[in-house]
Amino acid sequence: MASASPIIGFDEFAAYLNKIFKITLSDIKILIREFHTEMQKGLTGYESSLKMIPSYVDRPNGKEKGQYIALDLGGTNFRVLSVELDGRGNASVTAVSKFAIDIADMQGTAEQLFGFIANCIHQFIEENQLDKRIQYDLAFTFSFPVDQTNIAAGKLLVWTKGFTAKGVEGEDVIVLLNEALKKKDIHCIRVAALANDTVGTLVARSYKDPSCDLGVILGTGTNACYPEKLVNIQKWRGLDPKGHMIINMEWGNFNKLRLTNYDKDLDLASPNTGAQFLEKMVSGMYLGEITRLVVQDMIHRGLIFLGSKCTAFEKKGSLLTENMSLVAEDNSANLGEVEFFLKSKGITNITAHDKNILKHVCDLVSTRAAKISGGSIAAVLSWMDPELKNKHTVGIDGSLFEKYPGFARKIKATCKDVFGENALNIEIVHAKDGSGKGAAIIAAVAAQSEK
Ligand code: GLC
Repeated sequence: MASASPIIGFDEFAAYLNKIFKITLSDIKILIREFHTEMQKGLTGYESSLKMIPSYVDRPNGKEKGQYIALDLGGTNFRVLSVELDGRGNASVTAVSKFAIDIADMQGTAEQLFGFIANCIHQFIEENQLDKRIQYDLAFTFSFPVDQTNIAAGKLLVWTKGFTAKGVEGEDVIVLLNEALKKKDIHCIRVAALANDTVGTLVARSYKDPSCDLGVILGTGTNACYPEKLVNIQKWRGLDPKGHMIINMEWGNFNKLRLTNYDKDLDLASPNTGAQFLEKMVSGMYLGEITRLVVQDMIHRGLIFLGSKCTAFEKKGSLLTENMSLVAEDNSANLGEVEFFLKSKGITNITAHDKNILKHVCDLVSTRAAKISGGSIAAVLSWMDPELKNKHTVGIDGSLFEKYPGFARKIKATCKDVFGENALNIEIVHAKDGSGKGAAIIAAVAAQSEK
C-alpha cells in the first residue's frame, strides 16, 4: 500500500499528485544524459540497466524475397503469420492466426509453453493447407531479452511482462522450439531466424523506407532498437569496421527514473521486482495498475466516491489500460464513458467530482508515460545524430501508441520540446504488424547469407 503522507484535504492531495507525476523539460534532459551514459556502458560490456544486445542483423536492402512463416510471441496473444516479400520493398501478410495465451502456459513450464506454440503452428499448417512436402523457413519473433549468439540462436536472459515459465531462462529458445516441433511431428518447418519485436519493427519499416533508423514498441511492454556502428559495439567487435548492427536496447529496464510510491508498490507486487522500471511506468501492462493504486489510495483517504469505503478497486488488475483509454476518449461534458465504467464496477452514487478525478488521474499517469517515451526516443535520436541534422523515421508499433488517445501527439510534443525546429526532421509513423513482417525479412536475409 502506498504510504500515506500527512495530506488530508482534496486540494492538497491533488497538488501532490500533479507534482509527483509531472515530467518537466529539465527531467527529460536529465533522462537523455542518463540514457547516453547507460547506452555507452551497455555497448562496452559494463554493468548497465540498458542491455544493448547485438541482434546479428543490419537493416535490409529491400530486395529480400520469398514466402516465410513468422511466429510472434511477447504479449497477451500468440500469432502465426505467413508473410510474402516481393523483393521490391513490399511485405504482405497472406494469412494470420491469433491465439490467446493461457496464464497456465505463460507461467507453467517450458514444455507447456513451447508445446502450446507447436500446437498453434500445427493448427496453422492444417487450416491453411500448407504443403508438408515443402520446407518452410520460419522466423521467430520472441519479444523478451535474449542474448543472441547468431541470427538463429539465443538464450533468454530473464522473463518480462508477466511471463514466468520455468526452464526457459538461460536456455536457447530455438532449441526449445525445435524440440517442441519434433515432439509434435512437424517436419516441414526450418527455424531460420530469431528476432526481438523492436528489431522486426525497424527492419519491416526500413524495408521500404531507408530513413527509418529507430524501431519502438509501445504495447504490453516497451523497448527500442537502432542500427549502431560496429566500431561502437566494443563488447562485440565485428569484422567490417564500416558496418552496422541493430542493437536491441531493452530500454524497458532503464532504471534512472524518479519513482513515486505507487511505482514502488507496483514493482513490489510484480513477478520481476527490481527490474523493468521504465516499462512499469510506460507500458500497457502497467498503466492501469498505477492508476488503480492511486484511486485506491484516494478511496482509503476518503477523497473520492463521497468518502465511501468501496472495494471496487481493491484487487490487482481491476483497472486496465484499456479502461483508461475509454475514460481518456470521453470528451463529453457529462463524461458518459467514465460513468459507464464506474457503474460497471458496481459504484452507483457517482458525482461529477468523481468522474473528473478519475479522468484526471488517467491523464496524469498516461501523460507521464508519453513524455518518458518521447524523452527516450529523443535520447536515441540524439545519440545517433546529436544535432539532428538528418531525417529520421521512427517506426512504432503497439496498442498503447495506436489506441491511447493523445499518446502519439504527446510523444511528438516532447520531441519538439527537446529539439525545437529540428524536430521537423523526425517522422513518427505507425509501423503496423512490423514485428511479424520484419522477422520474415530477417529470415530472408539469413537465407541469402547462407547461400
Ligand atoms: C519487454 C521485452 C522486450 C520487448 C518489449 C516489447 O520489454 O523485454 O524484449 O521488446 O517488452 O514487447
